[in-house]
Amino acid sequence: MRLALASDHAGYELKKAVIEYLQAEGLDFEDFGCGPGESVDYVDYGAEAARRVVNGEFDRAILFCGTGLGMAVVANKFPGIIATACWDEFTATVSRSHNNSNCLTLGGRVLDPEKAVSLVKIWLKEEFEGGRHQRRVDKIHLLEQELHQLK
Ligand code: RB5
Repeated sequence: MRLALASDHAGYELKKAVIEYLQAEGLDFEDFGCGPGESVDYVDYGAEAARRVVNGEFDRAILFCGTGLGMAVVANKFPGIIATACWDEFTATVSRSHNNSNCLTLGGRVLDPEKAVSLVKIWLKEEFEGGRHQRRVDKIHLLEQELHQLK
């Protein structure tokens, strides 16, 4: 699985901790910024990573900002992305098993690094349950088609 990572300044430290974990596990990822000491707009960085998932270069994205919320809003603008802001083990689990999340968003001002790594581990291993959840996710993708045709 190829992972696209991105953060703003408020998510940078959390991203660093997750990168250390991914490297230790030998997982395949690329970081699309920002770098240390920059103050940036999360929109630009989240969009870059989400775009690369939508175009098939990457399988999933993990995005970091202050709360996880801004990155989720941005990524969810991209058809095909299901971005879920998670804050504990339960939300990380069901974001995969029920929502089939392909984009995890985490907040550097609401999570400590150990918790973030624990959520990433869960989100990477948890499988989508399908069944009734598949029907619901299919409806989300139908909405995307409908909304994009309206443009
Ligand atoms: C940046 O200060 C902060 O607003 C941003 O990281 C994030 O929390 C947005 O959702």
